[in-house]
Amino acid sequence: MEGACIAKVVASKHPNYRADELYMMMGSWQDYVILDPGVKKEGFSAIKIPRGVPPYVFLTLGTDLAAIIGMLDIGRIKKGDKVLISGAAGATGSVAGQIAKARGASVVVGIAGGPYKKSLLTSQFGFDEGIDYKNENVQSRISEIFGSSGVDVYFDNVGGKMLDDVLGNMAKFGRVILCGQISQYNNKETDSVEMKHITDIIAKDISMRGFLGMNHLTNPFIILYWIYLFATGKLKHVIDSRNNFDNLPDCFVGLFHGVNTGKLIVENDLS
Ligand SMILES: NC(=O)c1ccc[n+]([C@@H]2O[C@H](COP(=O)([O-])OP(=O)(O)OC[C@H]3O[C@@H](n4cnc5c(N)ncnc54)[C@H](OP(=O)(O)O)[C@@H]3O)[C@@H](O)[C@H]2O)c1
Repeated sequence: MEGACIAKVVASKHPNYRADELYMMMGSWQDYVILDPGVKKEGFSAIKIPRGVPPYVFLTLGTDLAAIIGMLDIGRIKKGDKVLISGAAGATGSVAGQIAKARGASVVVGIAGGPYKKSLLTSQFGFDEGIDYKNENVQSRISEIFGSSGVDVYFDNVGGKMLDDVLGNMAKFGRVILCGQISQYNNKETDSVEMKHITDIIAKDISMRGFLGMNHLTNPFIILYWIYLFATGKLKHVIDSRNNFDNLPDCFVGLFHGVNTGKLIVENDLS
């Protein structure tokens, strides 16, 4: 299994890499690895983490950039938009809400599972309202909050029935940002979801677009905007840190059951 990780150099025969330096890279679920620093993994070389910068920043970078690219490039968010975000208490969704606020959205609403996550949306991440999809009727809560004018921008991390429920409540010329479909990744071919509101896409002139963050990194504004938000303290992260790589499989599967709040990371102390 591979993913973004931070690794410490234990020993090096390369003049540019020294023991105890930290690097962010695409890595596997393993305790030790022998690396040729010239070799790229998934298109990325290892990036040295400067002293004084908290290492977690380099792990939240990917999901932060997905939130920024989604809101700005794909959703073309503008001042006054009414915004809805699913998976809102997770790594990507919690930042997407903050980006929407920073860009002048008039209302930002998040959907998350359970009363604790719902309360966190307003108390920690600056959302105006939360919807607890495990205990509330999503469709009626959306129409209660957004009224007949509907949702201008929907940032979708979940897909499936939740996406269909939101499609039925979109505004004319609304934009749907397909960032993720976490409710659908483990579906078998036979687990089809009935999409009742597809015709709303035509009737309301809605645009719906998916994206992969890594395909949009050539836009320098995205990185500069992230640096600006980070440097001015405008981004708030909740880091959900677990111990021991032996727990990696459980933590990974847990993402599909909502065990995490904010960015889930697993630390392995080999000392
Ligand atoms: N397009 C891109 O470039 C890009 C980049 C990064 C991530 N993503 C996507 O963005 C989404 C979020 O990723 P993340 O890394 O930030 O994870 P995350 O949101 O930190 O964690 C996943 C969260 O999804 C929610 N969830 C899981 N199963 C669900 C279901 N059946 N229905 C509703 N909610 C469910 C859970 O929260 P609750 O407790 O609220 O259910 C869980 O905590 C994923 O779909 C991921 O694939 C896309």
